Amino acid sequence: MVTSSAGTVPASASPRIAVLGRGLIPADEPVLRGDDLGVLRGDGLFESMHLREGRPWLLDEHLARLATAAAAVDLDLPPTDALVDLLDTVRSGWPAQVEGALRLVCTRGPETGTAPTVYATLTEVPASSRAARQDGITVATLPLGVPADARTGLDWLPAGIKSTSYAVNSAARRWARRTGVDDVLWISSDGYALEGPIANVVWLTGNMLCTVPAATTGILPGTTAAWLLAHANELGLDATERMVTPVELHAADGVWFSSSVRGLAEIRMLDGVRRDHCPRTPALHALLGFPV
Ligand SMILES: Cc1ncc(COP(=O)(O)O)c(C=O)c1O
Repeated sequence: MVTSSAGTVPASASPRIAVLGRGLIPADEPVLRGDDLGVLRGDGLFESMHLREGRPWLLDEHLARLATAAAAVDLDLPPTDALVDLLDTVRSGWPAQVEGALRLVCTRGPETGTAPTVYATLTEVPASSRAARQDGITVATLPLGVPADARTGLDWLPAGIKSTSYAVNSAARRWARRTGVDDVLWISSDGYALEGPIANVVWLTGNMLCTVPAATTGILPGTTAAWLLAHANELGLDATERMVTPVELHAADGVWFSSSVRGLAEIRMLDGVRRDHCPRTPALHALLGFPV
């Protein structure tokens, strides 16, 4: 909140876009050519980061994941310094008290060209994300139609990359809206919970904070879940990656979706079954440093 002559009002900021080689541009100005392969084929990568106190949180982890994904799909990224400069350009002057959703996008560029299209966007964290942090979410399981190890078993298929091809993820989110739940949790054909379309699943059983292994399932290796598990000991918790079934999640002491911008959203209803509020949720929010 900031204080103005009219009293205390919520701080806000307008959406911003910066393009590599062009700098900050008016947010309504075109960025992509019509023949950009990011548009024609969904051929590109992106990262979404949480901007707090005006700075991207877990920047190095996001840049490392982007570099790994770029290598996996043979996308030539600009040097890291240029990416960091671009992010600095888009965030420069952003009000420190406004939480931001910072996106870095690298498409394969125009069909006839050789250079990727690289740009960054910055918007306020949506009110719905902040509400999900505070109130929790309702989730339904949704079959993914393939076994848990289907994707990692195919050596031609880059798994666990944050590709701009989100058609499947968007379809799952539309199904959630039609079904009247906030989000979905994908279940493999052999019965394991994998991830949500925009989040990892994290759960607590006794003293053990867990998430699903990305290396053996091909889900996105989440920066938020990794950070939580790496710092679980600060709450006196142990941490591990393991497979989990919906039955085990129903029996868990706490279940959350984790992602960079929404942070941690406690699952308060899973497949129509209400879950008690987990008393550990406030401490986990505090550990992540998200305002709730
Ligand atoms: C499919 C998917 N899984 C997991 C996540 C969570 O990853 P992170 O914590 O790095 O934001 C996301 C984030 O957008 C995602 O799209």
